[in-house]
Amino acid sequence: MAAHDAVEVILAKRDQHELTDSQIDWVIDAYTRGEVADEQMSALAMAILLNGMNRSEISRWTAAMIASGERMDFSTLSRPTADKHSTGGVGDKITLPLAPLVAACGVAVPQLSGRGLGHTGGTLDKLESIPGWRAALSNEEMFTILEDVGAVICAAGDGLAPADKKLYALRDVTGTVEAIPLIASSIMSKKIAEGTGALVLDVKVGSGAFMKDLTTARELAETMVALGTDAGVRTVALLTDMATPLGRTAGNAVEVQESVDVLAGGGPTDVVELTLALAREMLAGAGRGDVDPADKLADGSAMDAWKAMIRAQGGDPDAALPQAKESHVVTAPTSGTLTRLDAMAVGMAAWRLGAGRARKEDPVQAGAGVVWHARPGDAVTEGEPLFTLLTDEPERFDRALASLEGGYDITDGAEFTPGDIVLDRIGG
Ligand code: URA
Repeated sequence: MAAHDAVEVILAKRDQHELTDSQIDWVIDAYTRGEVADEQMSALAMAILLNGMNRSEISRWTAAMIASGERMDFSTLSRPTADKHSTGGVGDKITLPLAPLVAACGVAVPQLSGRGLGHTGGTLDKLESIPGWRAALSNEEMFTILEDVGAVICAAGDGLAPADKKLYALRDVTGTVEAIPLIASSIMSKKIAEGTGALVLDVKVGSGAFMKDLTTARELAETMVALGTDAGVRTVALLTDMATPLGRTAGNAVEVQESVDVLAGGGPTDVVELTLALAREMLAGAGRGDVDPADKLADGSAMDAWKAMIRAQGGDPDAALPQAKESHVVTAPTSGTLTRLDAMAVGMAAWRLGAGRARKEDPVQAGAGVVWHARPGDAVTEGEPLFTLLTDEPERFDRALASLEGGYDITDGAEFTPGDIVLDRIGG
């Protein structure tokens, strides 16, 4: 590999030049090995945030991050593979019903998930509220479960895109998370290294998401779809609403329960709608567009796949879920129609109740969270429950209540039709 030095690469991006392939390969490799210092990589990340990267730079940057670690290969599985990635939102439990549903349709789902940070929840934190369930699997265990059950949701091993692990932690503390080239390459390096055949991206838009407006969300989606397509992964993106939280719960055990309700044929209509929309995209990408996932929800086979998936990872799908020790009900201050429920306000409340973490090493409470008893468009009655707050530590209620203040509107006599969940589709 050609030798460069960190200052040369930083100066090039600072002065708005295109980085060469050789500069990119070198800087990612040298950073992973510890030869480029954190302060140098921080300066480069900031220069990228300010000056951007073109498509060929982003593509090379992603390839270099993939090359920093191992690549998984599921091509010898007896079924095609498809995966989904969400950019993160409030009440976003969709992976939980989606993975077993798609497995029940004959497509394997190798889902490597993360933990929550800040106001958005993490899939692994949610699943860990199921007694006995474990997130860490070896590559061999993952392969066996995929062959036997068809779906696995587990933590990414240390070997996958280690450059991204290091760089993401650095971006988190240097104000450089929000650069579209860095977000796109971070997400796609892990998904391409994971070896899925098809990929559906759920790019969230709105107050509870990374991307607050449709224009930036579309730019991120287009960048990621291009990266996936260039790497030979059939990739599409749905832009979906995250101004309102999904479903009726945000937390860990409460979101598992809501997912089980969906698998049992019930659950909130928006969760069912988005689960089916993403399942149809995954099946189409894997060449199984002829299967209707709604049938597999209705006939119980998605629920069977869920139970098998949980058991295969040590969990007891029939065990009672943990419950918070304390609860606090917020009642509606007036009667009318709920016309706004702000995803960020709900996400912050759930986080402050103990469902999420402020630092990577913090524990989360399995039972903590928020349940909302109405969704935008529903009639509410003064004095009736609007929210139930759940936590093991009642001293957390005040701060959670403060984050809900101003987070909803009730309008008397308003005609209100909630907007669509799927706002746009990119690729395919
Ligand atoms: N998720 C990731 O994995 N990386 C980012 O940069 C942002 C969200």
